Amino acid sequence: MTQPLTGQPLARVEGRLKVTGVATYAADNNIDNMVYAVLVGSNVARGTVDGIDTSAAEGHPDVLRVITDFSRITLPFDPRQIASFDQPVAIVIGATSEAARHGASLVEVRCTATDHVTDVSAPGVIAEPNTRTPDYGRGNPEDALRSAAVASDLRYAIERNNHNAIELPATVAQWEGDRLTVWDKVQGLPTHQKMYADALGIPIENVRILCPFVGGAFGSALKVWPHQLLASLAAREMGRPVKLVLTREQTYETVGYRPTSRQRLAIGADRSGTIGAIIHEVSIENSRYAQYLESLTDYAQFMYSAPNMRSTSRLIPLDVNPPCPMRGPGTVTGAYAMECAMDDLAHRLGMDPIELRRRNEPASNQEEGLPFSTRRLTECFERGADAFGWSRRSQRPGATRDGDQIIGFGTAAAAYHTLRQDAAAVARANADGTIDVESATLDMGPGTYTSMTQVAADALGVPMRSVRFKLGDSNFPPSPLHGGSMTMASVGSAVHMAANMLRDRFIRTAIVDPGSPLSGIAPDQVSVADGRMYATNEPSRGETYRDVLRRRGWRTLDSRQDWSPGNADERFSLYAYGAVFAEVAVDELLGTVRIRRMHAVYDAGRIINPRLAHSQAIGGLVGGIGMALLESTHLDHRDGRIMNANLADYLVPVHADIPALDAEFLPAEDMAANPLGVKGLAEVVIVGVPAAIANAVFNATGKRVTDLPITVEKLL
Ligand code: MOS
Repeated sequence: MTQPLTGQPLARVEGRLKVTGVATYAADNNIDNMVYAVLVGSNVARGTVDGIDTSAAEGHPDVLRVITDFSRITLPFDPRQIASFDQPVAIVIGATSEAARHGASLVEVRCTATDHVTDVSAPGVIAEPNTRTPDYGRGNPEDALRSAAVASDLRYAIERNNHNAIELPATVAQWEGDRLTVWDKVQGLPTHQKMYADALGIPIENVRILCPFVGGAFGSALKVWPHQLLASLAAREMGRPVKLVLTREQTYETVGYRPTSRQRLAIGADRSGTIGAIIHEVSIENSRYAQYLESLTDYAQFMYSAPNMRSTSRLIPLDVNPPCPMRGPGTVTGAYAMECAMDDLAHRLGMDPIELRRRNEPASNQEEGLPFSTRRLTECFERGADAFGWSRRSQRPGATRDGDQIIGFGTAAAAYHTLRQDAAAVARANADGTIDVESATLDMGPGTYTSMTQVAADALGVPMRSVRFKLGDSNFPPSPLHGGSMTMASVGSAVHMAANMLRDRFIRTAIVDPGSPLSGIAPDQVSVADGRMYATNEPSRGETYRDVLRRRGWRTLDSRQDWSPGNADERFSLYAYGAVFAEVAVDELLGTVRIRRMHAVYDAGRIINPRLAHSQAIGGLVGGIGMALLESTHLDHRDGRIMNANLADYLVPVHADIPALDAEFLPAEDMAANPLGVKGLAEVVIVGVPAAIANAVFNATGKRVTDLPITVEKLL
């Protein structure tokens, strides 16, 4: 028996294509007769368009047209009204991208501004309830908090974050009659086909989306944005293929972001640290025209044992473009408050923060009323504390120094829902001995190509090189959004089933075929390895899949399978967990915070590829460092313009900010979640990170900075 490929730290199968520049991203597609589109936007956050002077642009020799009539498609906003700064009002079409860009600069948009609000803290701003996240409660938290011996009751503020994937949003749109093909940047194929179809007024099957490579997305491509629809409109109006690539600035203004949030988190406990009450009140910024919801409160509702708990979620409608999911959506924000509150409570109790968490480990999910499928949070903390050297931490803030630097240790827990949705895949054996496996999923960076190849190759008993996993085409069997950490759990399950079923079809074909060496053997007495089926107790007796196809005269044999998560969510509370540790150095005179090292331990179920998983986890740590210390999108509330919509002024972590990061995964499997036993890990790896850093800053300085990012002025 050869060693399974799943569990091995294999290199990316598409790695060579990427490092040699051969991989084609959306904007790399060039089609005969193609023209270029550039969007022109409003210069007010709210108001009306009085006029658009296109004459100068149209006078440019290589500008072909300026489109200002958007009425033939359905946009999320009313194009006659301006609802956010830089809302698209015109599309300039050029024979070259330079001409289109120059033409766009020549378009004169005259707007009348009306009163707008873009600041969640502006006077008179009203946070509104919503129907989809109703208020939640159990017990009597107000009384329990009042009577608690020790309490933490603080307010937390996190500024807006933008995804800033390296690949800019881009679309190449081509019509043939009323059929649209887009080479696009997406995190969903069947989902996005429907969004295109609805907006353009055509049947779903008339939309084909191709997206073999994504240069990072982090949630920013989970829906079809206006620029994608406008590229399609332009292509239809021009009768020619159109390429549209957003600028970095436009990405901030027309694609979503992690919304600005305001939270109150209160915990009350007795002297032994047993939590009696948790209150979590949150509000997030929203666009007036498109409601966006994410759950900030789910985490505090279940993470620790608390007989009395209530939460409220509010939306703050503003004159801004809509927010959208960004890695760990809602959860990383809510967990920031909860995990800082736990640290604050531990400090007030004079208790080690890991011990406080251990004492409040819940026996079941009190919100859902369900047992945990698996929950190894305590083990994550134990393993992490060991590896990190937590015992060297002083409970007293400011006790450890290194010259002018004050050293702080901090920790935080993490959790993220193990989401799964229906997914389908087809596995097809070809006459040349290769296997194609197809599913309408994507690979925005986690390594879908590689991990799915491992799963399929194991099920079929063939080497990696025999399997080609194909994704990024809406014609393939449907799979869910490539987000929510659910691709491996959902699509992986479908691939596993399709490949298993194909192997079984070959075995069953062989054992009833008098021409096969396996003729007459019971199916459970046949094994597969190295591309060959053989009698388990007589390995010399066997044949390859290719032999079967050749003898039968078949060109291919395939198996398509649909996987569904079933009702596991009604029986179990399914989450991935983690414990994050950070060491920071705070300069006593300058107030600067440097990360010295971080270590995280995750309970994410079975790990298909430890190398890819480690890479995901490091990415989560880096993203969390950005959120904690650097990232913040600033609006000029006088006109609603984003002031730092570029990678020079919007700060993200660079190498100097991320010295020694490491992560490990507990050996585990969660068979309630899916047949592979995976829990999903893309989001859990960011969840505890900002809180661990903020808690380390407290341990260094004694200052509880509750607002992110933690900038110098907050520590001086
Ligand atoms: Mo993730 S925020 O679901 O891409």
